[in-house]
Amino acid sequence: MRSIIFTALTAVSLLGADGYKVYKNNCMKCHAEMMTKTEALKSFHSLKAPPMVEVANKLKNNIQIVDEDTDVKRRVVIAFIKDYIDNPSIQYSMCEPMAIEKFGIMPSLKGKLNEAQKQAVSEWIYDHYEGKTF
Ligand code: HEC
Repeated sequence: MRSIIFTALTAVSLLGADGYKVYKNNCMKCHAEMMTKTEALKSFHSLKAPPMVEVANKLKNNIQIVDEDTDVKRRVVIAFIKDYIDNPSIQYSMCEPMAIEKFGIMPSLKGKLNEAQKQAVSEWIYDHYEGKTF
């Protein structure tokens, strides 16, 4: 039984991209993984972008679905992140104006990640930070 479960899990991870790995290879150099607000303020001068825990929380707070359907909300937030990877823009950024002044707008990563990698990293951002506040 255990080996069947193990085989099933391995098959899933072989088919889909590993979201955490995509994050580490493509986002971590700018977006720190985990930080408290106090730590972020203390090291603000050395940050290149908002920590990913802040990005996740900001998007989840700002994107509200009227009927509070969490599956729909998850889809919409994930779609936003996927699109932002290719098409960052001042128009769509939910970053504070002060932070944008400091960091600038994110450079586009268009062409660097395939569809599966964008999907995986966006799902990872949504799921990994569930219940983790900034
Ligand atoms: C070269 C640095 C850099 C890299 C690499 C980078 N980002 Fe960003 N990102 C930024 C900066 C700076 C901002 C804040 C300004 C803005 O919103 O564009 C940002 C903002 C974002 C936002 C929008 C947050 C908001 O509040 O609207 C998302 C989503 C995001 N990044 C996801 C990613 C993902 C996913 C990756 C990796 C696949 C990634 N970023 C890689 C610099 C980077």
